[in-house]
Amino acid sequence: MIAIGCDHAGVEMKNTIIAELTAKGYEFKDMGCNGEPCDYPVIAAAVCEEILSGSCEKGILICGTGIGMSIAANKFKGIRAALCSDSFSTKFTRLHNNTNVMCMGARTLGCGLGTELAEIFLSTEFEGGRHQRRLDLITEIENR
Ligand code: RB5
Repeated sequence: MIAIGCDHAGVEMKNTIIAELTAKGYEFKDMGCNGEPCDYPVIAAAVCEEILSGSCEKGILICGTGIGMSIAANKFKGIRAALCSDSFSTKFTRLHNNTNVMCMGARTLGCGLGTELAEIFLSTEFEGGRHQRRLDLITEIENR
């Protein structure tokens, strides 16, 4: 199950991703919003809590630029959120960073690219090995 959320800027992209990737077999838990003006940190928290509770394995967050969502999501211990806008970074943030949240900007990307990047993010597995040691160092920083 994938938690997905957006603020008022990202509703069209969120709905496109849900429709297109549900048709490909992915399951989403929609944490809002549905178009009403809202504050992106509230939605980021709702998605991150789904992951940290174990209800969802990964999350997708969309706001105007994706930046506010990524700042908010990375405040949560255990969340590694990446701002994604190209396919190479999206693939490698899964392979090397084992990111569990992707953030995208609805005002900087089209819905087609956003959906393609979401599919790359959801279908790419972490490589492990030497990259796990580096993630452990991030966790050590988080715990200071
Ligand atoms: C909302 O206007 C906008 O600030 C928000 O969507 C996002 O871009 C923040 O980072």
